[in-house]
Amino acid sequence: MEVKIFNDAQEIAVAAAELFTDIINNKNDAVLGLATGATPVPTYEKLIEAYEQGKVSFKDVRTFNLDEYCDLPKDDKNSYYTFMHENLFNKVDIKEENVNFLDGNVEDWEQESKRYADAMAAVGGIDIQLLGIGTNGHIGFNEPADAFTDESFKVTLTQSTIDSNQKYFGEVPMPRYALTMGIGSIMRAKKILLIATGASKAEAIKGMIKGGVTPKLPASVLNEHSDVIVMLDKEAASLL
Ligand code: PGA
Repeated sequence: MEVKIFNDAQEIAVAAAELFTDIINNKNDAVLGLATGATPVPTYEKLIEAYEQGKVSFKDVRTFNLDEYCDLPKDDKNSYYTFMHENLFNKVDIKEENVNFLDGNVEDWEQESKRYADAMAAVGGIDIQLLGIGTNGHIGFNEPADAFTDESFKVTLTQSTIDSNQKYFGEVPMPRYALTMGIGSIMRAKKILLIATGASKAEAIKGMIKGGVTPKLPASVLNEHSDVIVMLDKEAASLL
């Protein structure tokens, strides 16, 4: 695990976007694992800038998002499908047919999990997976648990995650369930970039780096992956 500390979120965004741009420019049809949440937004802004400046094209890029809420229409303003289109896909030259999401509205999530795993395998796996981290150490929606998960599955969101994300839903109660790539799916990515900013992430980052590998802090599993970069701002790194 290579840990890099930056002054602020903007510096991280520049470095993260450069890493993605290099990977795409080396492999035009790169397979990107993408994340939602507030943390990756500045990185997506820098990627859009790079696209506008002709420094990168998403024409042949394939993407797989980490997770999606259940019981929310795909085009709801709070779906991750909408989030990704508003924050990246609608602003670059990616083809809609190359964009992949878990469908949180299926009846049979096990079949959906298999479909997603097969789709990832069919394109040769994920070249780089972008991750944020929850204040409880979750990655994707892999919440603290007694065992690490493998393929995508249906998760009951924890109160900590609901407390963090309810703000986006205003008065409407947010979904209680989501489909998420499992820890095994995430760990199969060839390269992983985890970004964390702000003091609220400091405890989870300390646990991930110093606390040993445990499903009680799901991000700690990344210590077992051979190619992980962690980009932190000073606040997220403050307890290291
Ligand atoms: P955030 O979420 O970027 O909105 O803090 C990160 C996460 O929960 O993975």
